Formats: sequence, C-alpha cells, structure tokens
Amino acid sequence: MKIYVPRDAAAKALGADEVAKAVEAEAMKRGLTVTVVRNGSRGMVWLEPLVEIETPEGRMAYGPMTVADVAGLFDGDSPKALGLTDDLPWLKAQTRLTFARCGIIDPLSLQDYRAHGGLKGLERALTLTGAAIVDEVKTSGLRGRGGAGFPTGIKWDTVRMAKADRKYIVCNADEGDSGTFADRMIMEGDPFTLIEGMTIAGIATGATKGFVYIRSEYPDAIEVMTRAVEIARAAGVLGVSVLGSAHAFDMEIRTGAGAYVCGEETSLLNSLEGKRGTVRAKPPLPALEGFMGKPTVVNNVISLATVPVIFEKGAQFYADFGLGRSRGTIPLQIAGNVKFGGLYEIAFGLSLGQIVNDIAGGTASGRPVKAVQVGGPLGAYFPVDLFDTPFGYEEYAGKGGLIGHAGIVVFDDRADMLKQARFAMEFCAIESCGKCTPCRIGAVRGVETLDRIGRGDTAAIPLLTDLCETMKSGSLCALGGFTPYPVMSALTHFPDDFSASAKEAAE
Ligand code: NAI
Ligand code: SF4
Repeated sequence: MKIYVPRDAAAKALGADEVAKAVEAEAMKRGLTVTVVRNGSRGMVWLEPLVEIETPEGRMAYGPMTVADVAGLFDGDSPKALGLTDDLPWLKAQTRLTFARCGIIDPLSLQDYRAHGGLKGLERALTLTGAAIVDEVKTSGLRGRGGAGFPTGIKWDTVRMAKADRKYIVCNADEGDSGTFADRMIMEGDPFTLIEGMTIAGIATGATKGFVYIRSEYPDAIEVMTRAVEIARAAGVLGVSVLGSAHAFDMEIRTGAGAYVCGEETSLLNSLEGKRGTVRAKPPLPALEGFMGKPTVVNNVISLATVPVIFEKGAQFYADFGLGRSRGTIPLQIAGNVKFGGLYEIAFGLSLGQIVNDIAGGTASGRPVKAVQVGGPLGAYFPVDLFDTPFGYEEYAGKGGLIGHAGIVVFDDRADMLKQARFAMEFCAIESCGKCTPCRIGAVRGVETLDRIGRGDTAAIPLLTDLCETMKSGSLCALGGFTPYPVMSALTHFPDDFSASAKEAAE
C-alpha cells in the first residue's frame, strides 16, 4: 500500500512530519507493509496535511489530518475522507501545466519524474538549434513570472547572440513577496522540472553553468534542490554530456542571506559574486554583462519551470491558453483573509472577483472584502469596484496595478488602509539597499508624512502624492519605484481611511 504525506514546508508546518511518523507506526502495529511517499503539496493549504492513499480507483484524499486521525485511515471509516483527489472541485477546475506533477510524484524520484512526462521537453530541445529553441519560447508567449513580465524568449535571445567565452543561467529563487509561495512549492514538490528548464535555457543560449539562488528562509527547498541536482548529475541529466549529447550543463545551489532587495536581479548577482547585495545601474543588462561580467539569463523559478511543458507539448499548445499578451497559465497564490488559500494554476483571464469570491470562497472572517493586494508588498490595493479586472499583465497595469509574482492577499472591512500605506513605506525604508536617494530618504520621509496624516494633518496628503511621484520616477529599482503603488492605491481607492483617521485624531 502506498500512502502519500506531503513534505512541503506548509504541510510540515501543519504537522505533516508527525502524521507521516504516525502512519508508519500504525502500519507496523498492524503488520501492514506500507510505503510512505513524501510528495509535494497539491496546493490546498486549508486541507494540509492532505494524506492520500493509492487505490485501484485512484488516490483517495484525507485532510486536514492529525496524528489522532491516523488510525481511522486504516480502519476505513475516517471522518477526514474527501473522496478521490482528482475529483476535488478546487483541483479539478485548474489547468495545471507548470504544476502538473507537483503533489503527484515523489519529488526526488527521477524515475517517477520521467513516468509523468519529465525530460521529454529536454529530449526534444536537444534535437533543436539554439535559435529554434528560442523561437519556440518566443512563440509560447512566456513572460517573466517573477513579476516584470519581460518576454523570456527575447531575454534568452540576447544572451544567445552575445559573444563571450562563458555564459550563465541564474534562477532567481529569492521569493521575497509576502503572500507568495509558488517558487517554494515547485522546488519542494517537483525540483527536476526546474533543473530541466534551466538545462534547456543553457542549451539555447550556450551557457554551461547554472545557479539557483534560494532565500535562506526556504531550508526545505534548499535541501530538496541540492539533492535533486546530485541525482540529476549522477543520472547524466547534468554534466559534461547532457543526456549523452554534445552539450554540457551543470548547476549549483546558492543560499541568500535574507535581504528582500536580493530578489532584484542585479543585487542578486552581486550577492552571488560574494559582494554586498546592492543594486547595479542598468545598462548594462545582465543579459549582456551579468554574473562575473558575462552574459547571464536571470529568470524566476516559475518562468524556468514552465519551459519543460512548453517543449513537451509544443509552444502553440501553451500559447493557446490565456488572454491578450498574457499567454499560458499563471499559478495564483491566494492568501490573507480567505476561506480557501493556496496555489491555483489557471489560464490568464479570470476576473479578480472570480478569484476572490469563487475560488478563495470570500473572507475567512465572513465579513465583506475591503481590499485585495495583488503582486506582493509593492502591488496596488484593489477595491471591490475593480473586481471585474481580468488577470493579465496589461489589464492590471491599465488599472494602476501589477500582477507581480501573482500573490493575492485579501483584507476584510476592518483593514485600515492608512496603516497599510504606512506599512509599505516602512517596509521600503527597512529593505532599501540605500543606493539611491528617492528610496533611501524618501521611504523614511514617507513614513513620517503618513504619520502626520494619521495625526489629522490632511495638508500632508499633497506632499505624500508628490513624494510618491518622485520615488516612482527617480528610484533605481522596483523597490523604491513601486512602493508608491500600494501607497497611492490606498489613498485613491480608500480616501475615507485617510480623512477618517485625520478626523478621529483631530477630535
Ligand atoms: P525590469 O522591467 O527592469 O526587467 C525585467 C527583466 O527583463 C530583467 O531581467 C531585465 O534585465 C530584462 N530585460 C529588459 N530589457 C531587456 C532586453 N532588451 N534584453 C534582455 N533582457 C532585458 O524589471 P525588474 O526590476 O527586473 O523586476 C521588477 C518586477 O519584479 C516588479 O514588477 C515586481 O513585480 C517584481 N518583484 C518580484 C518579487 C518576487 O518575490 N518575485 C519581489 C519584488 C519585485
Ligand atoms: Fe536601493 Fe531602493 Fe534605490 Fe532600489 S530603489 S537601488 S533598493 S535605494
């Protein structure tokens, strides 16, 4: 009998390790031979730890499991039974392309990976020229999933065409946005897909070395990725001859030290080179002068982990999903005050209202939604009036927001948007690398100005607006440049919170 208990960090935080041990102990007590597979998470965090038992009909789901529930699993009368996993409505309605294997396979079994379509994309890419690989990525419409949405194929082409003795592939796994966890989940649940995507990027551009820069706050992802690289190397997927071809590609896992700004690509490169994590001016672009001054592809985990399915199923298959210039699927990460939080992969185009009300089930508190922050701490707060906005890069930009890394954090009517705006400025002040004045000084002045507004000084509002304009246009990177999004959206959409606190303070 095979029983799956996730090894994902969220499941572990909710007791998955204890449940796994209890399953093994109970099986032993009953004299049963049970194989416990530590899979990735299916993404339904409210059901974690979600335990699955393999049956002839398919995998049966049980959750959220506790140690006390384990005996019931073996008795066949568990009150935590949810039916067939594949029939769970939350899972069934998704279009899982990037996350197709996550939660299904044993993350560290290359055999399991292959049995579920793994390495087919790489095998196909090995039959193509670098230019043809890049064309395929361009045709797929894949754009940078870290947040900026730059076309991945164009970035790869810049590196491919650059003349240099060495080139690099750097995977940005410094997933710092609050409320996001897609990078972590795929690294913990399907690490070979990232290795495969990076190898294809190497073959396309002529890079022979890759680095995955993982934030130190992700010890499980670091452990799984390190082991997966060793396994891939031993199996000949990585090394001097990728799958027996004339191409060489190898990888290393590197750990960050906890600075948000090291998720910015040039800071990340400095950190990777052993320097202080401060932002470099662009140009030169990393694609031309990146790691150690050599042409470097810097891509987010999800961008790279999506490449294998594009090569396995074809660029057009991927491009057929989506909306406008946002092609393919996006792994939404739903968090905050919601009934059903977790990872939900779907084609671009769903309205924000559908995501919050239908998928997330509205607020966990049962109170009305007040605001939704999309795109991490630098994303705008959207009011319910904007719930008809379809999920897409241009669609959000058109409404003064950004989809960023697709983190969605929901707030109910008790949220104080002035405090949220202050939090954004404070966050920027704490995380600023200090290189440019609008961010280093501006964020500190922003906190002070918001405090003045909070004390009832509404004359400070134009000053705040002016400061945000300066930060937006004068900052060197997205940290200082995007902090005005949460601040200005809070002020624009929730002006009462700014004047109400002003009135309250004046009384
Ligand atoms: P950017 O727009 O400056 O650059 C996007 C990417 O395209 C970069 O890799 C850049 O080097 C590359 N690029 C631009 N022109 C190019 C060309 N002609 N050829 C080749 N490559 C080219 O944006 P940036 O600063 O890299 O990212 C900002 C975004 O990061 C924001 O939108 C924000 O949503 C997101 N973000 C994500 C976080 C996360 O945890 N995932 C955290 C913080 C911000
Ligand atoms: Fe550093 Fe802030 Fe300037 Fe970015 S905007 S370079 S984080 S000081």
